[in-house]
Formats: sequence, C-alpha cells, structure tokens
Amino acid sequence: MTSFECQPGGVVNGSIRVPGDKSISHRSIILSSIAQGSSHITGFLQGEDSLNTLRAFQAMGVSIERDEDNILVHGVGLHGLQKPEDALDMGNSGTAMRLLLGLLAGQSFDTTLCGDESLSKRPMNRVILPLQEMNAAIDSQPGGMAPLRVHARSNLKAIDYRMPIASAQVKSCLLLAALYADGETTIEEPAPSRDHTERMLRSFGCEVISNGSEIKIRGGQTLYSTGMDIPGDISSAAFFLVAASIATNSQVTLRHVGINPTRTGVIQILNLMGADISLLNQREIGGEPVADILVRSSKLKGIQIPEALVPLAIDEFPVLFIAAACASGETILTGAEELRVKESDRIEVMADGLKTLGIEVEPKPDGIIIQGGSINGGVVESHGDHRVAMALSVASLRATGVISIRDSANVNTSFPGFVELARQSGLNLSSHA
Ligand code: S3P
Repeated sequence: MTSFECQPGGVVNGSIRVPGDKSISHRSIILSSIAQGSSHITGFLQGEDSLNTLRAFQAMGVSIERDEDNILVHGVGLHGLQKPEDALDMGNSGTAMRLLLGLLAGQSFDTTLCGDESLSKRPMNRVILPLQEMNAAIDSQPGGMAPLRVHARSNLKAIDYRMPIASAQVKSCLLLAALYADGETTIEEPAPSRDHTERMLRSFGCEVISNGSEIKIRGGQTLYSTGMDIPGDISSAAFFLVAASIATNSQVTLRHVGINPTRTGVIQILNLMGADISLLNQREIGGEPVADILVRSSKLKGIQIPEALVPLAIDEFPVLFIAAACASGETILTGAEELRVKESDRIEVMADGLKTLGIEVEPKPDGIIIQGGSINGGVVESHGDHRVAMALSVASLRATGVISIRDSANVNTSFPGFVELARQSGLNLSSHA
C-alpha cells in the first residue's frame, strides 16, 4: 500500500503548471468520439480517471492516438460506436461512470459498466431514475450501485427533468442521453453546477440553450470535430492555493489554470478567509476562461461558508478544511451533504484525519465545524481518496511533526506527478510503496 511521508514545515515558492482539468478531459474524449471528423486535444489529463474514459471509447471502436497529453480522436459520429467485448471498467471515476451511462443508454448494443470498490458503493440512482424516465433500460445492484448493465435502446424519449441536487454529473449524463432522444429535453438545476458539458457541446456545433436555471437540448444533433486546449485543473491548483496561503513567506504562480465561474468557489472561499490571491493574464481558450493565479502567504480567518458556493467548490473541501484548521477561529460548513458520497465520505474521513492531527472538529450530517489550531504529526488514513491524501499532505506545512498518509496511490487518478511538483515547490514529502 502506498503511503506519503511528509516532513513538517516548508516554504512554498515558484511558478508551476498543474495537469489538465479532469472534468474537461473526460468530456473531450466523449464528445470528440461521437463527433464527425478528427479532433486534436492538448493538455489532456494523463490520470487514471480520464485514461479510463479514453480506454472505454477505444473499446467501443474509436481510434484514439496519444502522445502524452496530445490526443487525436477520430470521431465515429453519433451512431458509430460499437459494442465493446468486455465490461467497461471506470476504475475510481464517478464522472466517467455517470456520463457514460447517459451516452450508453441510447446505443443499439448492451454494455456493462463496472468500477473499483469505492465506485461500486457510490449512488447511481440519481442518474438511473431520470434515464429510466427517458425509457432507458438499466439493471443495477441493490440500492442502485454498480456494476450496471445497460440494455440496447433505439427509442429514448425527451423529458423535462427538475434535478433534486446540483450535480454536473447528473446534468451531463442527461445531456448526453438527450442527444439520442426524440424531441427536446429540458433540465432544470436547483443551483448552478459546472457547465463544461454545455460549453463543449456548443464548441462542437451543437445547440444548447441555457436560460437561467434551465438547459434545453434537441436530440439527433450532429457534432463536428474541433480542437481543444485543456487548461490546468483548478481542483489540482487548489492544493497549492492553500499551501502557499498557509506556509510562511510563500508565493506561487499557477500558470494556465481554468477559472470557469462554475469552478472558482475555492478562490471565493479563500478570499473570504483573507487569502491573498490575484488572477493575472485572464483570457479565454476554447470557450473556457483561463488565468495565471498568484497566491501569497496570508493570515486566514475562520468563516461561515456561504451555501451558494458549495457546488462551485465541491471537490476542494478536503484542502479547504486544511485552510480552516490553519485559520484563526471557527469555520462552519453547511449544505454540503454531497461530500459524503464522493470517492470517500469526505466529511468523516477528513474529520478523522484532522482529529488525529490534534484539530478540534465536529462533523455534521451536511457539513463540519472546524476550530483553527495547531497541527501535530501523526498517521492518517486517506481511505484511497486522492483529494484527501493531497489535502493532508498540505497540512504538513504547518505541522509540528511528521505526517504519514496511508493508502495514497489513487492520487494518480487526478494528479499524476503530484509528489514531484509538490517537492519542487517546497513541500517535503515522499511516496513509499
Ligand atoms: C464532476 C462533477 C462533480 C465533481 C466531480 C466531477 C464533473 O460531481 O465532484 O469530481 O466532471 O461533472 P457532482 O456533479 O456529482 O457534484
């Protein structure tokens, strides 16, 4: 089992580029596979999650050439996918499983989707139920868990669906299924969630109408190949935003990071806590806003996190909890029950880790209360959750002893090269098998 060993202290400096955005990488493969023509992608995340998506489309007959983060996808059109020989293994990736389920629901062949132990415990009814309303035929394990068997269907029907949770995975799953449905599908979101699917569909020439909380899409539209330059993942940049904020005398520039407003909750929350973060060279690349982010050490203070920011920072809470542990006073998070169904139960797992490190925390069903304090060394469990492992390693910058983080191999799902990049910028950590 892989563990991280983190020596206490450190100053964080430099100018770094984090790997490509995971959400956009998944979508780039999915949409270019069902487009007409060849699409060239640069900046693709070479992490296990997005590579699982890539392999799934290869298994469905799409020719995909890869030279590191440069990808050339030879699209087969909306109806050109072929039945894969084996089950499609989505590994640890909820995004891959939920988005592919939507796409596969409208194919003319049966498929099986499976995943690792964590993914096999994550709720799939949130996508299965609306897909069944569209006439999809999906068998799941008790409680709506994977493995999932998707039966061939040629007659999906458009629906009007009001989503009970703000989830970009649910929204994107339904947008993909809607491409195979008769008529116009309308999806209503209870609060904004990341909108990469809508943006990317438009860049492939598809008409997607967003009007307030409503999104409309017509079935049967043709996607036309395009080029994509994927920006750095703000969810990976977040570890360095917090690292440079909590470490002394630190200053980091994160180059070429995606700052889509549906993803920048982490910056807004850190700014409310008193962080020193500036966005430089703001520009738009392929329909997505991008910037260089400059972050300097600051004295953080505890806050009540506004609930409206929760979906916009949903993946960044493990490291935001580290910021809260280093802040003066109390930080209160509410309205974040979704954290309990991520790669791990991030409320419980982070609460356990922080308690081991001497921080006073009170987990709640929908959030947590964290008292800022002094961080001790200790042995903590990531429970195979990549973001928990990276967040706990950032805590070492303010720790008084060594922090050992167990079960950290899954960092490769979203952030290959994390240990090297973190070491290069001043964290003193190493990875052991
Ligand atoms: C993602 C959406 C989020 C996020 C996940 C990636 C996506 O999940 O947690 O890491 O790419 O659509 P939910 O939409 O379920 O909140």
